[in-house]
Amino acid sequence: MGQKIIAIANQKGGVGKSTTAASIAAELALRGYETLIIDCDPQANATSHFLAPSDVGTSVAEVLVETDPREKIPIKAAIVTTEVEHLDIVPSKLKFAKFEKEPSIAITRLKTKLTTIRDIYDFVIIDTPPTLGQILTATLLASTHMLIPVAASPLAQDGLDDLLSTFDEIQASNPDLKIVGILCTLFDSRTSVAAETCRQLQDRYTDKVFDTIIHRTVKLEEAPAFHKPIQLYAPNTRGAQQYSEFVEEMIERLGMRQSKSKLRLASGEN
Ligand SMILES: Nc1ncnc2c1ncn2[C@@H]1O[C@H](COP(=O)(O)OP(=O)(O)OP(=O)(O)O)[C@@H](O)[C@H]1O
Ligand SMILES: [Mg+2]
Repeated sequence: MGQKIIAIANQKGGVGKSTTAASIAAELALRGYETLIIDCDPQANATSHFLAPSDVGTSVAEVLVETDPREKIPIKAAIVTTEVEHLDIVPSKLKFAKFEKEPSIAITRLKTKLTTIRDIYDFVIIDTPPTLGQILTATLLASTHMLIPVAASPLAQDGLDDLLSTFDEIQASNPDLKIVGILCTLFDSRTSVAAETCRQLQDRYTDKVFDTIIHRTVKLEEAPAFHKPIQLYAPNTRGAQQYSEFVEEMIERLGMRQSKSKLRLASGEN
């Protein structure tokens, strides 16, 4: 099984992309998969789950925005370890927004740079911004899979068809790209509209929708303020448990259950 590069995408804002990126990256690492999270959103919310802004040095901005084309910065220069064993991060900062203004040739930069870390990680998880712009294109061109978090709220499906059209366009240039599935997030069991939204998603997108549903919980909301993923901030809570169940389901869907041991053997670890 090859490396899986999963872009977490939905141009709708506030649907749980960054929370999902941070939580599944941490969960995969805790299960022993060598994992890298790349924050490709200038808002740097996924970064906040691991690092304080003052601790961010070289970021995805220096790697992908070529201020001086003579100076090419490899992705390894921006990789730092996290508190979670087996998990590294390429953080983001606000100036990565400049990538949207880079010439269109820049869209293949991420894909090219990721080839240098192909043998190091089982999973690369990429958080993306809430726009259908050049950052998202670059991310999807570099990915093997797209995971779509959808908030269980009214109008949840708005824009999903635009996202799927973008996916189709990019798949023409990156035939390896697949949709791993749709994850229902921010589920509030006190409202009937949440259950109704998830049901509609299942009716329309059938087996693309994961069985696991992520509920709205206070601990998931608090975690980034403490620069910790949910598994470290509040390990025995519903949020941690549900992301664990989700990762179980996703690994199964990706056929990755056996893969970590192979990488471990290849790297000489027992
Ligand atoms: N399951 C959850 N329970 C409670 N709060 C959550 C949950 N998931 C996300 N949140 C909170 O909701 C807000 C939006 O979540 P998040 O930042 O993950 O969404 P996003 O899709 O990445 O947003 P953006 O489009 O701005 O990048 C954040 O304040 C986050 O902490
Ligand atoms: Mg986000």
